[in-house]
Amino acid sequence: MPEIIIVKNEDEAGELYAQRVADLIKANPKTVLGLATGSSPLAAYQHLAKKVEDEHIDVSQVRGFALDEYAGLDPQHPQSYSSTITRTVVEPLGLDPDLVHVPNGNLDTIKDAGREYDEAIEAAGGVDLQILGIGTDGHIGFNEPGSSLASGTRIKTLAEQTRIDNARFFDGDINQVPTHCITQGIGTILKARQLVLLAFGANKAEAIEETCEGGISAFCPASALQLHPHATVIIDEAAASRL
Ligand code: GLP
Repeated sequence: MPEIIIVKNEDEAGELYAQRVADLIKANPKTVLGLATGSSPLAAYQHLAKKVEDEHIDVSQVRGFALDEYAGLDPQHPQSYSSTITRTVVEPLGLDPDLVHVPNGNLDTIKDAGREYDEAIEAAGGVDLQILGIGTDGHIGFNEPGSSLASGTRIKTLAEQTRIDNARFFDGDINQVPTHCITQGIGTILKARQLVLLAFGANKAEAIEETCEGGISAFCPASALQLHPHATVIIDEAAASRL
């Protein structure tokens, strides 16, 4: 069962994340961070950036691996996860961009990209702390319901609900949202030494209930957190309202 921490708001959650990550980096300057996109981790990154600056933490050797990327979207597109991670994590924290990786969604080379990504994570010594958001359908990364709990990084089709949810980033137009993605698998995510899942708002309450109190099932990919020995779910009262 994941540890559940109920907080007042995203800021309080962000402080908890920032403290945990700062401690890791102080103990090991080569810490490997698992990074996520979406709105849920934004306050956490901001708190971490502030801490890094206030406490003069050396992040020059910190490495990062993002969870996922749209397939067939130019990495320079403002909504690509490559651009998003640069904007929300690499630049504010002052990380070395060469040490931060995002799965390769280029359709010409995507066939081997998943295996290569998992090999790169292993070669780096594995992820120390993976931050996660959660989709309203219980997805983590882009592992939609039905994803194998043992999966590695691979190409996936995006669920209709996820494309509807993410249309807000593409001028509200679902037709602009890519149909496929490359995502770390649930098996890949479970290999991280610590998992921290953040969720806020009533629209996440059902997914959080399934994640924490439902049976472990591919129909709620986040329920795989129940299999992890060091998983923490940090949520506000609205997201916790069905627990
Ligand atoms: C996308 C990302 C997920 C993220 C989810 C929820 O689908 N691939 O990693 O958790 O959105 O996003 P938000 O935090 O904005 O609700």
